[in-house]
Amino acid sequence: MTQTKNLEPLVIDGGRKTFHKDLTIPDPIPSQAFGRVEEIMKSAKLFRYGGKTAEESETALLEKEFAAYLGVKYALGVTSCSSAIFIGLMAAGIEKGDKVLMPAFTFTAVPSSIVHAGAEPLLVECDDNYVVNIADLEQKIADNPDAKYFLLSHMRGHLAEMGKIVELCEANDIVLMEDAAHALGNTWNGQQAGTFGQMSAFSFQSTKMINAGEGGMLTTNDPHIMAKAIILAGAYEKQWAKQFFDRPDLLEKYQGFYPAYNMRMNEVTAAIARPQIPNIDIKGNKFRDNYFTIANILNSSEHIDVPDRVENELPVPNSIQFNLRGLTGEKIRSFVETAAEEGIKIAVFGMQEDNARCFWNWRYLDTSDDELPMTETMLRTACDLRLPVFLDKEDVSTMGNLIVRAIERVKNLQDKRAVMTAAD
Ligand SMILES: Cc1ncc(COP(=O)(O)O)c(C=O)c1O
Repeated sequence: MTQTKNLEPLVIDGGRKTFHKDLTIPDPIPSQAFGRVEEIMKSAKLFRYGGKTAEESETALLEKEFAAYLGVKYALGVTSCSSAIFIGLMAAGIEKGDKVLMPAFTFTAVPSSIVHAGAEPLLVECDDNYVVNIADLEQKIADNPDAKYFLLSHMRGHLAEMGKIVELCEANDIVLMEDAAHALGNTWNGQQAGTFGQMSAFSFQSTKMINAGEGGMLTTNDPHIMAKAIILAGAYEKQWAKQFFDRPDLLEKYQGFYPAYNMRMNEVTAAIARPQIPNIDIKGNKFRDNYFTIANILNSSEHIDVPDRVENELPVPNSIQFNLRGLTGEKIRSFVETAAEEGIKIAVFGMQEDNARCFWNWRYLDTSDDELPMTETMLRTACDLRLPVFLDKEDVSTMGNLIVRAIERVKNLQDKRAVMTAAD
């Protein structure tokens, strides 16, 4: 992996240490991609179906390697995870006005993809450990027997109790689609995220496990879903001959009966993504070490709660979320400012006016004024902090200690005021 050069992590600033690494830097692109991208550019063959065979296509090879990594039969390269969700839902047979259950804590692109497919999102509560609340899911299923799809976003890579979710979906004849944009490489009970449902969507946008700028992947074991998806993504006039798919009979059957939405991946994107597949588990180990190192330090503060991960989950987190406890809104604001002075920019989801991960900002939905007290309470005090791959153990320890110190400084201010008020 090419390593990004960074400034010294710590700078002595008037006797105080502050953190000076840029946490917005995306993960590096492996050097093998550079030569391949140049070759493709020189050939001008950027179109995935521009060659004569599947073996010549970077996109087809990426699909094959991605499916092998995940242990599924089929993968389809598309322009984004949002495209993968849209195409997946269309291929699974969604119809105008159908209800799609989804967790209320996710990114705006998720309900947007449901709306794009002509369907109606139905938001389900999330717990303060950021995963879908199973009791509310059960209730919403009972209240909406006509809801036959569940788009489960593993937001920020937090996996819920997948065993229970699969059981509930099977018992109620619900199609489970996983939005694994943030969960590539995570496992639950030894099973890869993105292999629990009938289909799954992945993102290669720059802040994700695979950084190709933009791009996405739809995966499934169902040949009918994949055949329809290939056509929906834009394989016209038997272009599918230039990709690996073992059921050409299904493509023959469906061609012409499904629209072509032209959401194909291009060859440059695939060439950037391919050499990142062997790095998934290496990066995952690093993410996990960093995550648990900083989580332990943060949990030493009485005002910070990094919730336990769900039992049996092996996460690969490239960010950390934690809940602030016992601080007023004003103090939370001071904490964010103080941490920023230390060099660590933390976002509190519900405090940023236009945060695209807060359901009340999805004003295009009829459900934007839904009552979701659990999710809302969580979002008002939940912090979000990126942990890019270039950070090492010392960096994350420093960050953790600076965050705890920022909390202490804010708390002391509070205490001093309390003393002054008592003395007045
Ligand atoms: C949880 C989640 N799902 C889906 C998406 C959509 O991914 P893409 O940008 O590839 O469409 C995003 C985007 O960041 C996301 O955060």
